[in-house]
Amino acid sequence: MELLMTNIKKSFDLVKVLKHAQIHVKSSEVHALMGENGAGKSTLMKILTGVYTKDEGTIVIDNKEVQIHSIRDSEKAKIAFIHQELNVLNEMSIVDNMFLGREITNKFGLLKKKEMKALATEKLQLLGLYVDADDSIKSISIGKRQLVEIAKALLLDAELIIMDEPTAALTEKEINLLFKVIRQLKEQGKSFIYISHRMEEIFEICDEITVMRDGTFIGQKKKAYTSFDEIVKMMVGYDLYERFPRIDIEPKDVLLKTENLTLEGKFEDVSFDVRAGEILGFSGLMGAGRTDVMHAIFGSCPATSGKIYVRGKEENIKSPKVAKKLGIGFITEDRKNEGIILDFNVSENLILPSLKDFTKSGLINNKMKLEETEHYKNKLNIKMASPTMKIANLSGGNQQKVVIAKWLHTNPSILILDEPTRGVDIGAKKEIYEIINGLKAAGVAIIIVSSELPEVLGICDRIAVMREKRLVKIFNRAEANQENIMDFATRG
Ligand SMILES: Nc1ncnc2c1ncn2[C@@H]1O[C@H](COP(=O)(O)OP(=O)(O)OP(=O)(O)O)[C@@H](O)[C@H]1O
Ligand SMILES: [Mg+2]
Repeated sequence: MELLMTNIKKSFDLVKVLKHAQIHVKSSEVHALMGENGAGKSTLMKILTGVYTKDEGTIVIDNKEVQIHSIRDSEKAKIAFIHQELNVLNEMSIVDNMFLGREITNKFGLLKKKEMKALATEKLQLLGLYVDADDSIKSISIGKRQLVEIAKALLLDAELIIMDEPTAALTEKEINLLFKVIRQLKEQGKSFIYISHRMEEIFEICDEITVMRDGTFIGQKKKAYTSFDEIVKMMVGYDLYERFPRIDIEPKDVLLKTENLTLEGKFEDVSFDVRAGEILGFSGLMGAGRTDVMHAIFGSCPATSGKIYVRGKEENIKSPKVAKKLGIGFITEDRKNEGIILDFNVSENLILPSLKDFTKSGLINNKMKLEETEHYKNKLNIKMASPTMKIANLSGGNQQKVVIAKWLHTNPSILILDEPTRGVDIGAKKEIYEIINGLKAAGVAIIIVSSELPEVLGICDRIAVMREKRLVKIFNRAEANQENIMDFATRG
């Protein structure tokens, strides 16, 4: 399939989000769509798939102009969209998910269960996924759910599959499997539009790259004839040197220390410490237990045995309230469930953990609230139309920045960040590293859980590796590299 979208325009309440967007995808091609957070990538794809309607512009498929007003229209045009946040329904079975809204029935309107299961199983196996299609979707990993979504696209006979940040929550192994499937389908003539902020991945899997900035088409390049630096420059508008800025300072007192921390079934015997002015990274595969350890330290899911010392004193952290009193902040990885409240506006979300600073005799000081929002908007370069817009309408990466801002405001002396730059664009990543470095210089003890090895290696002073619920190694920065970290993370 050949797709050409030209001069696409779209405004939301007078805010021009797409000014002049364009993309040209050919058949048998993996086409990257790149741009900073809020550039309009997801919006452009939502127009292509009938979630939004465009204000202006044309969509041409195989030399014929098409009108897409609904998701149905885009399905008819053989386009499938796998969303940034996987919208699968947790209680349903795999097969019901795949046939949702297009169930096969007999002439009496009864579901043809066997037939649907057979069809679903066939598509799943084509992708190397051997699961029972009657199992619930929540019983399989996010990586596998991603494959289920692709299988669903195959059921629809899609010729163009759009993936918005598909690998954000995938393990190394799952990413490799996904790429294998993409390559295999590409050989069969299918095309992909692939959105990601992970540069290494783009250069591995994509053939063409379209860059947009601020709702506008900037250019299209063949991967073979461009470079990392050129793409980044097109995205941010200037040369970006040093992806991982570093500062070297001598760490001071141990602020946090754990001894044999254990939570049955989640993690065992985890012992480490982190000092003022130090960044300790936590590496490992998804599911190794890293996030659970952080929840124990923060009191949201306490350990059953072992000890936690804060500034040398043993503490019983049985709730987040206790943790916050001790100066511990936690920026969680699961921003949708724990980080933000989608129904609230941006500034309401921002002040949540420090509500009392903004409240006087039960009333929230609105002026202060808006000033703070403005402050962080500038500091973190958060792209939003107004501080009172619903956070649900911010782009994915900008939501992440709000989550970070709300914890910065609480002035923690120990700060835990779980996947802080997931979904964040390359320029903003650097801004976040600089903020983290600023906290480090100010003597905060910092823990970063991250699945991106270049990031862990780039900014951490020491790197703890977890494997199967245990902390198996702590590297000094100088000794660590991708290979030996992966080795400890997977060996066994
Ligand atoms: N329904 C909406 N109402 C108001 N503004 C919106 C709406 N949807 C998107 N926007 C705004 O449009 C801009 C583009 O958002 P979009 O989600 O397309 O960005 P993106 O390029 O996908 O970014 P990211 O990399 O962070 O996912 C953002 O500034 C966002 O706040
Ligand atoms: Mg997006």
